[in-house]
Amino acid sequence: MRLKIVKARAHTNIALIKYWGKKNTDIIIPMNNSFSLTLDHFYTDTKVTYDENLKKDSFSLNGEEIESQNVFNFLDYVRQLSGKNGFVKVESINHVPTTAGLASSASAYAALAAASSKAFGLDLSRKDLSRLARRGSGSATRSIYGGFTEWIGGDNDLNSYAKPFQENVEWDIRMIAAVVNSKPKKITSRSGMQTVVNTSPFYGEWVKNANNSIPLIKKAILDKNFTTFGEISEENAMKMHALNLTAHPHFSYFEPQSIEIMQAIEQLRQDGIEAYYTMDAGPNVKIICEGKNSEVIQKALKLKFPEIELLESKPGKGIQFLD
Ligand code: DP6
Repeated sequence: MRLKIVKARAHTNIALIKYWGKKNTDIIIPMNNSFSLTLDHFYTDTKVTYDENLKKDSFSLNGEEIESQNVFNFLDYVRQLSGKNGFVKVESINHVPTTAGLASSASAYAALAAASSKAFGLDLSRKDLSRLARRGSGSATRSIYGGFTEWIGGDNDLNSYAKPFQENVEWDIRMIAAVVNSKPKKITSRSGMQTVVNTSPFYGEWVKNANNSIPLIKKAILDKNFTTFGEISEENAMKMHALNLTAHPHFSYFEPQSIEIMQAIEQLRQDGIEAYYTMDAGPNVKIICEGKNSEVIQKALKLKFPEIELLESKPGKGIQFLD
């Protein structure tokens, strides 16, 4: 095999029960199981060209060459798995607005795992693709599948992978990202979660609580009980953010406007419009609602915060190979 070109698309996902801490930082084994919804609006397309004439690996993102040691280490691992010696050219295009602060590493490493493994001649199952994506970024483990997905944390390379819970979501769920203008993020998810694992006196409780929440959220989905579904998601997110305040040194991703948006959502609930929020390692607020309420929620937010950008997503698909 002298030349092989493979293109793959992966969508990002939003965790409803968060992954926040690793028990193995080298191969990324999480402390707790997590549960997410893959989104249709945000994705990464990655083209990998395996060419025996190449002298080294290269990686470009949105047309710009990047010397990413993480990507190069990842490619070394795929090469080793494949038993081949050749190098690859990786070209990624991110269709995740950079301002959205949505986990682009999830779609990035899921697409890279799929395209690079195939370009190196491997034919991996989706389970093995999720194990491979996990080595790039934890949240990428879940982006192999569409819809609602669980990452079974496990304790070693073989038993830490994602499983689909409901790939074709038969429920009109929406996620609206409210983009909060802020300075560049100061604490990456990688370093933030490790500080919490090492220093928060409440960390053990977080792990137990997150694991216990997964069967409850699954039941709410099967029952199409939006209230319970929203409450479990919102509470899990707030527990993760509360944990950050109990770390040493303590930190927070909340900006004043994040709090104002969350309060506006609480007000909408009091007015009888159901919506819940979640937040990740950045100041943006992600609002979870049913399709029937999406427009009125967006109108209310636009009225209160005319300057913020709102990006709506529906449930998205799992990994796809493109022609
Ligand atoms: C808050 O997957 O970005 O979005 O594994 O270190 O690359 P690394 O971290 P990453 O962390 C995601 C954290 C989160 C919650 C989640 O997606 O589960």
